Amino acid sequence: MIIRTPLTLASVHPDIGLRVALARTPADVVEQVTRSGIRGRGGAGFPTGLKWRLASEAPAPDGRRHVVCNADEGEPGTFKDRALLSVVPDLVVEGMTIAAWAIGATSGVVYLRGEYVYLRDELESCLARRRAAGLLGNDILGTPGFCFDIHIRLGSGAYVCGEETALLESLEGRRGEPRNRFPYPVVRGLYQAPTIVNNVETLAWVPAVLARGADWFLGIGTPGSSGPKLLSVSGDVARPGVYEFPFGVTVRAVLEASGGEDARAVVVGGASGVCVPASDFSRGISYEDLCTGGAIIVLGPHRDLLDVAENFLEFFVDESCGQCTPCRLGNPVLLEGVRSLKRGECGPERLGELRRLGHTMKDASKCGLGQSSPNFFLSLVDRFGPEISDRVPV
Ligand SMILES: Cc1cc2nc3c(=O)[nH]c(=O)nc-3n(C[C@H](O)[C@H](O)[C@H](O)COP(=O)(O)O)c2cc1C
Ligand code: SF4
Repeated sequence: MIIRTPLTLASVHPDIGLRVALARTPADVVEQVTRSGIRGRGGAGFPTGLKWRLASEAPAPDGRRHVVCNADEGEPGTFKDRALLSVVPDLVVEGMTIAAWAIGATSGVVYLRGEYVYLRDELESCLARRRAAGLLGNDILGTPGFCFDIHIRLGSGAYVCGEETALLESLEGRRGEPRNRFPYPVVRGLYQAPTIVNNVETLAWVPAVLARGADWFLGIGTPGSSGPKLLSVSGDVARPGVYEFPFGVTVRAVLEASGGEDARAVVVGGASGVCVPASDFSRGISYEDLCTGGAIIVLGPHRDLLDVAENFLEFFVDESCGQCTPCRLGNPVLLEGVRSLKRGECGPERLGELRRLGHTMKDASKCGLGQSSPNFFLSLVDRFGPEISDRVPV
């Protein structure tokens, strides 16, 4: 695992953020996190402070609330959470502990991707160390009544279990299928109790936000996307790895840093992301422009974009949980469409139908998997017209 840039979050002294948090009221901590503007690093970009406030205000009849760290990291092309869990596990746990103080949670779970089982022993040691140091368990750091502990649960390799409600189903021992909204997990999550599900990176930034202050975090990035962001850069680059950039960094700057200047296109957001042509490399990575949980896959000059689309759609056909029709049936139809494009058998009328199907899937699928699986294909059709139409018989 190569981390190519210094990690700002690791420059904060251990547990200062937690001590700062415990010196404030939970409501103050929520306020500080809200003011920092930090948004979820798992991809959807939901404001973290708002999520925490909703969970802290939701009634918890038996007094239970939960903090879940989403370490499922299944998006093809994403590996920055693995880096954080390997290199700075204490920061992730510290972030969970601050979250627990903020929302009044007594229990936490790290939902660890099955393939990351080799990290489990090190994470267990981290938890044990922190219990022994009074940083987890009863009356944390001498704070009367603040009792919080964390256990680790392993996923079993289903991509959809990274979706927060499928994750909760899986944690409760059921098949990992997304739940109906409403209610949201902040109101009724794990075992019906108010629950926050946050990405590993989101939680890892929290100690720095508390230790350095909301204004520091707000001063980095763009107006709608504060703070630095970790990116997992892979594909046709000389220096693949994990990079930290301020939000707003251009695609071109990422390519220059990683040695991918000759790219013909860049996939921003992994298999569920979009394909960005070279003419758009001056666009920025942020929630306002090109949104990503962190996956940047660089496609060099020799890549056939339809091969990539086929590969991604095969993945979604495999990973769809099959619960809703647009995703269950739509992905195989899109896949066959891409294959017919490759064979030069897809006429303009059929291409138009596939495009409409992609938009219908985005509108009508039940969860983010089906809502985003057409993204790459649609971006090819919209932004790589000549490449697609060359393959369309007239
Ligand atoms: C199919 C699918 C897979 C997902 N996988 C992950 C994942 O591996 N890690 C993650 O943090 N979020 C993942 N998400 C997003 C989560 O549902 C959720 O938005 C996120 O964990 C919230 O944390 P954040 O607000 O800190 O980003 C996935 C979403 C979908 C639809
Ligand atoms: S969109 Fe796909 S993964 Fe999500 S619920 Fe529907 S079938 Fe399952």
